[in-house]
Amino acid sequence: MRVLGIETSCDETGVAVYDNQRGLLADALYSQVEMHAEYGGVVPELASRDHIRKLVPLIRQVMSESNTDKEQLDAIAYTAGPGLVGALMVGASVARSLGFAWKVPVLGVHHMEGHLLAPMLEENPPEFPFVALLVSGGHTQLIRVDGIGCYQMLGESLDDAAGEAFDKAAKMLGLDYPGGPRIAALAEKGTSGRFRFPRPMTDRPGLEFSFSGLKTYTLNTTEKLREEGTLDQQGKADIALAFQEAVVDTLTIKCKRALQQSGLKRLVIAGGVSANRLLRERLETMIKKERGILFYARPEFCTDNGAMIAYAGCQRLMAGQQDDLCIHARPRWPMSELDALSAKG
Ligand code: KG4
Ligand code: ZN
Repeated sequence: MRVLGIETSCDETGVAVYDNQRGLLADALYSQVEMHAEYGGVVPELASRDHIRKLVPLIRQVMSESNTDKEQLDAIAYTAGPGLVGALMVGASVARSLGFAWKVPVLGVHHMEGHLLAPMLEENPPEFPFVALLVSGGHTQLIRVDGIGCYQMLGESLDDAAGEAFDKAAKMLGLDYPGGPRIAALAEKGTSGRFRFPRPMTDRPGLEFSFSGLKTYTLNTTEKLREEGTLDQQGKADIALAFQEAVVDTLTIKCKRALQQSGLKRLVIAGGVSANRLLRERLETMIKKERGILFYARPEFCTDNGAMIAYAGCQRLMAGQQDDLCIHARPRWPMSELDALSAKG
């Protein structure tokens, strides 16, 4: 089974071809990050227009790189949500049009399911069941995963997502969008122990998260240093370090709790924030003590990409998913609404 995957939910145009026998055959990404950086965040209308410009050339590129003729495709998978509606519409309508012209079935894929399954593209993929921590710009969720589409929400953020908190903290420090990698880089120069930020909601039972208080704490600390005239590079680096430590510690504490409560030993982390080096290190240390195993994707497959959509689409195709001929674009789409399918092969 060979599937062309198309991702256009936000500010990255990702296209890939995945074959269930031969693996990932081609993968191309165009990031709009530079264009949006000027505005301090994603401008939806500009994102949609750029997807229109880049999508078809990228499809040509991956079809050629993977030596795939349209006759060899078993399906086209596209991100049907959640995401920016205009951006989603571009991928959805191009996928649907190509499917119609090439007489190939077309499947809508859930963006977060794509993220969740991305570590399956690596060597030694995790077996079901496992606990997954999904940490992206829009989601922070702990999920028990028993199979494709068998997702039980264990806990999620009551307000900001972890990636969103990184992006907002970065803005306060005058760093460009996206903030996560920039905070991580600046934190390298920070002094450990100068500030200690709170670990929200870790002092009570449960697997819920809240990052908005941490954001306020970061703002207050930044303002205090500004008033004192000490918000120099070192001051900013010290704040970045304290902020990153607090987010990473909070995520680690909740992951440990989720493993202990579920009795599972496998932990999968996915989504943009799972590229964070400190998070990976802390989770590795925690999971060793729990005698479990940690799984994650290579950094370029943690953030948005076409490979995860091609892979998820292929699994859903093999499990028998068939879509109607409508163009689906759902800005909001809870994962709990996904059909449980058990993939063969
Ligand atoms: O999964 P993703 O590419 O898009 C969404 O589905 O939201 O995640 C993007 C988010 C951004 O908030 C970005 O700041 C964050 O992931 N991110 C990171 C790192 N790389 C990306 N956060 C912390 N550390 C990183 N290394
Ligand atoms: Zn994403």
